[in-house]
Amino acid sequence: MKKIVVLTGAGISAESGLKTFRDDNGMWKNYRFEEVASPIAWDRDRELVLEFYNLRRKQLLEVEPNAAHKALVKLEDKYHVKIITQNVDDLHERAGSKNILHLHGELRKSRSTVDENLIYNIEGWELKTGDKCEKGSQLRPHVVWFGEQVPQIVSAIEIAKQADIVIVIGTSMVVYPAAGLIKYVPDEVPKYLIDPKAGKNVYVQNLKIIKDKAGIVVPHLVDDLMNIAIS
Ligand code: APR
Repeated sequence: MKKIVVLTGAGISAESGLKTFRDDNGMWKNYRFEEVASPIAWDRDRELVLEFYNLRRKQLLEVEPNAAHKALVKLEDKYHVKIITQNVDDLHERAGSKNILHLHGELRKSRSTVDENLIYNIEGWELKTGDKCEKGSQLRPHVVWFGEQVPQIVSAIEIAKQADIVIVIGTSMVVYPAAGLIKYVPDEVPKYLIDPKAGKNVYVQNLKIIKDKAGIVVPHLVDDLMNIAIS
Protein backbone atom coordinates (compact mmCIF):
# COMPACT_ATOMS: atom_id res chain seq x y z
CA MET A 1 0.00 0.00 0.00
CA LYS A 2 1.21 3.50 -0.82
CA LYS A 3 1.88 5.94 2.00
CA ILE A 4 -0.13 9.14 2.17
CA VAL A 5 1.06 11.84 4.58
CA VAL A 6 -1.48 14.50 5.46
CA LEU A 7 -0.27 17.74 7.08
CA THR A 8 -3.16 19.69 8.62
CA GLY A 9 -3.57 23.07 10.23
CA ALA A 10 -6.37 25.08 11.76
CA GLY A 11 -8.10 25.47 8.39
CA ILE A 12 -9.29 21.85 8.35
CA SER A 13 -11.23 22.51 11.55
CA ALA A 14 -12.65 25.87 10.43
CA GLU A 15 -15.78 24.33 8.91
CA SER A 16 -16.41 22.53 12.20
CA GLY A 17 -16.68 25.97 13.77
CA LEU A 18 -13.24 26.30 15.39
CA LYS A 19 -11.40 29.55 14.80
CA THR A 20 -8.14 29.56 12.90
CA PHE A 21 -5.27 31.74 14.12
CA ARG A 22 -4.45 34.16 11.31
CA ASP A 23 -7.68 34.58 9.37
CA ASP A 24 -9.56 37.88 9.68
CA ASN A 25 -11.54 36.58 12.68
CA GLY A 26 -8.68 34.40 13.89
CA MET A 27 -7.61 33.82 17.46
CA TRP A 28 -4.54 36.04 17.20
CA LYS A 29 -6.87 38.95 16.46
CA ASN A 30 -8.31 38.67 20.00
CA TYR A 31 -5.24 37.52 21.91
CA ARG A 32 -1.50 38.17 21.69
CA PHE A 33 0.06 34.70 21.66
CA GLU A 34 2.81 35.96 23.99
CA GLU A 35 0.09 36.53 26.60
CA VAL A 36 -1.63 33.15 26.42
CA ALA A 37 0.62 30.61 24.66
CA SER A 38 4.16 30.94 26.01
CA PRO A 39 6.11 29.91 29.14
CA ILE A 40 6.44 33.60 30.07
CA ALA A 41 2.64 33.97 29.90
CA TRP A 42 2.29 30.93 32.21
CA ASP A 43 4.63 32.50 34.74
CA ARG A 44 3.08 35.96 34.39
CA ASP A 45 -0.66 35.16 34.36
CA ARG A 46 -1.46 31.47 34.80
CA GLU A 47 -5.19 32.11 35.18
CA LEU A 48 -5.34 33.88 31.78
CA VAL A 49 -3.51 30.98 30.12
CA LEU A 50 -5.77 28.40 31.77
CA GLU A 51 -8.83 30.40 30.71
CA PHE A 52 -7.60 30.69 27.09
CA TYR A 53 -7.34 26.92 26.79
CA ASN A 54 -10.46 26.22 28.88
CA LEU A 55 -12.59 28.35 26.53
CA ARG A 56 -11.13 26.56 23.47
CA ARG A 57 -11.67 23.16 25.13
CA LYS A 58 -15.27 24.07 26.03
CA GLN A 59 -15.96 24.97 22.40
CA LEU A 60 -14.22 21.82 21.16
CA LEU A 61 -16.66 19.68 23.15
CA GLU A 62 -19.52 21.39 21.30
CA VAL A 63 -18.31 20.84 17.69
CA GLU A 64 -17.97 17.83 15.43
CA PRO A 65 -15.51 16.60 12.79
CA ASN A 66 -16.45 17.83 9.30
CA ALA A 67 -16.50 16.22 5.84
CA ALA A 68 -12.76 16.76 5.40
CA HIS A 69 -11.85 14.91 8.62
CA LYS A 70 -14.24 12.10 7.70
CA ALA A 71 -12.99 11.76 4.11
CA LEU A 72 -9.41 11.25 5.34
CA VAL A 73 -10.60 8.21 7.31
CA LYS A 74 -11.85 6.57 4.10
CA LEU A 75 -8.34 6.78 2.61
CA GLU A 76 -7.18 4.25 5.22
CA ASP A 77 -8.99 1.48 3.34
CA LYS A 78 -6.50 1.64 0.46
CA TYR A 79 -3.49 3.59 1.75
CA HIS A 80 -1.18 3.77 4.73
CA VAL A 81 -2.32 7.18 6.03
CA LYS A 82 -0.32 9.19 8.56
CA ILE A 83 -1.74 12.50 9.73
CA ILE A 84 0.70 15.08 11.04
CA THR A 85 -1.40 17.84 12.55
CA GLN A 86 -0.51 21.22 14.03
CA ASN A 87 -3.97 21.24 15.57
CA VAL A 88 -4.50 20.52 19.25
CA ASP A 89 -8.15 19.59 18.69
CA ASP A 90 -9.19 15.92 18.61
CA LEU A 91 -11.39 16.11 15.52
CA HIS A 92 -9.18 13.74 13.50
CA GLU A 93 -9.48 11.17 16.34
CA ARG A 94 -13.23 11.67 16.64
CA ALA A 95 -13.62 11.27 12.86
CA GLY A 96 -11.89 7.87 13.19
CA SER A 97 -8.37 8.44 11.87
CA LYS A 98 -5.98 5.94 13.40
CA ASN A 99 -2.48 7.31 12.87
CA ILE A 100 -2.17 10.88 14.13
CA LEU A 101 0.88 12.82 15.27
CA HIS A 102 0.12 16.03 17.16
CA LEU A 103 3.10 18.30 16.54
CA HIS A 104 1.78 21.03 18.85
CA GLY A 105 0.18 18.88 21.56
CA GLU A 106 -3.40 18.06 22.51
CA LEU A 107 -6.01 20.42 23.99
CA ARG A 108 -7.83 17.68 25.91
CA LYS A 109 -4.69 16.59 27.77
CA SER A 110 -2.71 18.12 30.65
CA ARG A 111 0.91 17.61 31.68
CA SER A 112 2.89 17.78 34.89
CA THR A 113 5.05 20.87 35.33
CA VAL A 114 7.80 18.79 36.99
CA ASP A 115 7.78 15.67 34.80
CA GLU A 116 6.84 16.07 31.12
CA ASN A 117 6.23 12.32 30.84
CA LEU A 118 3.25 12.59 33.19
CA ILE A 119 0.36 13.29 30.77
CA TYR A 120 -3.33 13.07 31.71
CA ASN A 121 -6.68 13.26 29.94
CA ILE A 122 -8.73 16.27 31.00
CA GLU A 123 -12.27 15.18 31.91
CA GLY A 124 -14.70 17.90 30.83
CA TRP A 125 -13.44 21.32 29.71
CA GLU A 126 -11.69 22.83 32.69
CA LEU A 127 -8.10 22.66 33.87
CA LYS A 128 -7.80 24.72 37.05
CA THR A 129 -5.20 26.04 39.45
CA GLY A 130 -4.88 23.32 42.10
CA ASP A 131 -5.23 20.45 39.60
CA LYS A 132 -2.03 18.57 40.35
CA CYS A 133 -0.03 15.64 38.96
CA GLU A 134 0.77 12.54 41.04
CA LYS A 135 4.00 14.27 42.13
CA GLY A 136 2.02 17.20 43.51
CA SER A 137 2.85 19.81 40.87
CA GLN A 138 0.37 22.04 39.03
CA LEU A 139 -0.86 20.64 35.74
CA ARG A 140 -0.46 22.70 32.54
CA PRO A 141 -2.01 22.35 29.08
CA HIS A 142 -0.26 19.59 27.08
CA VAL A 143 0.37 22.06 24.27
CA VAL A 144 3.63 23.26 22.69
CA TRP A 145 3.96 26.97 23.48
CA PHE A 146 5.83 29.54 21.45
CA GLY A 147 9.51 29.29 22.33
CA GLU A 148 9.26 25.62 23.34
CA GLN A 149 10.74 22.63 21.54
CA VAL A 150 8.60 20.53 19.16
CA PRO A 151 9.68 17.06 20.30
CA GLN A 152 7.65 15.22 17.65
CA ILE A 153 9.32 17.02 14.74
CA VAL A 154 12.01 14.34 14.39
CA SER A 155 9.39 11.63 13.87
CA ALA A 156 7.41 13.93 11.55
CA ILE A 157 10.45 14.50 9.33
CA GLU A 158 11.00 10.74 8.99
CA ILE A 159 7.35 10.29 8.04
CA ALA A 160 7.56 13.10 5.46
CA LYS A 161 10.63 11.52 3.85
CA GLN A 162 8.75 8.23 3.31
CA ALA A 163 5.62 9.73 1.72
CA ASP A 164 4.35 8.56 -1.68
CA ILE A 165 1.69 11.31 -1.73
CA VAL A 166 1.38 14.43 0.47
CA ILE A 167 -1.77 16.41 1.16
CA VAL A 168 -1.42 19.75 3.00
CA ILE A 169 -4.73 21.10 4.30
CA GLY A 170 -5.58 24.43 5.93
CA THR A 171 -2.28 25.80 7.15
CA SER A 172 -0.67 29.17 6.46
CA MET A 173 2.72 27.43 6.48
CA VAL A 174 4.30 30.24 8.50
CA VAL A 175 5.09 28.49 11.79
CA TYR A 176 8.29 26.44 11.91
CA PRO A 177 9.39 23.72 12.20
CA ALA A 178 5.99 22.39 10.97
CA ALA A 179 6.06 24.65 7.91
CA GLY A 180 9.41 23.18 6.89
CA LEU A 181 8.19 19.57 6.75
CA ILE A 182 7.21 19.82 3.09
CA LYS A 183 10.87 20.40 2.22
CA TYR A 184 11.71 16.87 3.39
CA VAL A 185 9.33 15.30 0.89
CA PRO A 186 11.16 14.06 -2.22
CA ASP A 187 10.71 16.29 -5.29
CA GLU A 188 9.05 13.59 -7.36
CA VAL A 189 6.30 12.94 -4.80
CA PRO A 190 2.92 14.47 -5.80
CA LYS A 191 1.80 17.12 -3.32
CA TYR A 192 -1.56 18.84 -2.89
CA LEU A 193 -2.14 22.12 -1.01
CA ILE A 194 -5.78 22.77 -0.10
CA ASP A 195 -6.51 26.27 1.19
CA PRO A 196 -8.85 29.03 -0.11
CA LYS A 197 -6.06 31.52 0.41
CA ALA A 198 -3.13 29.27 -0.51
CA GLY A 199 -0.20 31.63 -0.64
CA LYS A 200 2.79 31.71 -2.88
CA ASN A 201 5.04 30.82 0.04
CA VAL A 202 5.35 27.15 -0.80
CA TYR A 203 8.15 26.51 -3.29
CA VAL A 204 8.35 22.77 -3.87
CA GLN A 205 8.24 20.55 -6.96
CA ASN A 206 5.16 18.63 -8.02
CA LEU A 207 2.69 20.81 -6.06
CA LYS A 208 -0.95 21.19 -7.02
CA ILE A 209 -2.65 24.11 -5.25
CA ILE A 210 -6.44 23.84 -4.84
CA LYS A 211 -7.85 27.15 -3.64
CA ASP A 212 -11.06 26.08 -1.98
CA LYS A 213 -12.40 24.90 1.38
CA ALA A 214 -11.29 21.60 2.84
CA GLY A 215 -14.88 20.42 3.33
CA ILE A 216 -15.47 20.76 -0.40
CA VAL A 217 -12.12 19.63 -1.84
CA VAL A 218 -10.98 16.80 0.44
CA PRO A 219 -13.92 14.43 -0.19
CA HIS A 220 -13.43 14.77 -3.97
CA LEU A 221 -9.65 14.35 -3.75
CA VAL A 222 -10.14 11.26 -1.58
CA ASP A 223 -12.56 9.78 -4.14
CA ASP A 224 -10.00 10.36 -6.90
CA LEU A 225 -7.21 8.77 -4.83
CA MET A 226 -9.41 5.79 -3.93
CA ASN A 227 -10.16 5.24 -7.64
CA ILE A 228 -6.50 5.19 -8.65
CA ALA A 229 -5.33 3.17 -5.64
CA ILE A 230 -3.77 -0.19 -6.38
CA SER A 231 -5.86 -2.41 -4.18
N1 APR B 1 -10.45 25.01 4.37
C1 APR B 1 -9.11 25.01 4.14
N2 APR B 1 -8.28 25.97 4.60
C2 APR B 1 -8.84 26.97 5.31
C3 APR B 1 -10.23 27.04 5.59
C4 APR B 1 -11.05 26.00 5.08
N3 APR B 1 -12.37 25.99 5.28
N4 APR B 1 -10.46 28.16 6.33
C5 APR B 1 -9.26 28.77 6.50
N5 APR B 1 -8.30 28.06 5.88
C6 APR B 1 -6.86 28.35 5.81
C7 APR B 1 -6.50 29.80 5.88
O1 APR B 1 -6.56 30.40 4.60
C8 APR B 1 -5.08 29.74 6.42
O2 APR B 1 -4.12 29.66 5.37
O3 APR B 1 -6.26 27.75 6.93
C9 APR B 1 -5.04 28.43 7.22
C10 APR B 1 -4.97 28.64 8.71
O4 APR B 1 -3.73 29.26 8.99
P1 APR B 1 -3.42 29.65 10.51
O5 APR B 1 -4.57 30.34 11.11
O6 APR B 1 -2.06 30.32 10.50
O7 APR B 1 -3.31 28.25 11.25
P2 APR B 1 -2.11 27.23 11.22
O8 APR B 1 -1.35 27.28 9.92
O9 APR B 1 -2.64 25.91 11.64
O10 APR B 1 -1.16 27.79 12.40
C11 APR B 1 0.01 27.05 12.70
O11 APR B 1 0.44 28.57 14.52
O12 APR B 1 -0.42 29.80 16.24
C12 APR B 1 0.27 28.65 15.94
O13 APR B 1 0.37 26.67 17.20
C13 APR B 1 -0.48 27.42 16.39
O14 APR B 1 -0.67 25.29 15.28
C14 APR B 1 -0.77 26.68 15.09
C15 APR B 1 0.31 27.21 14.16
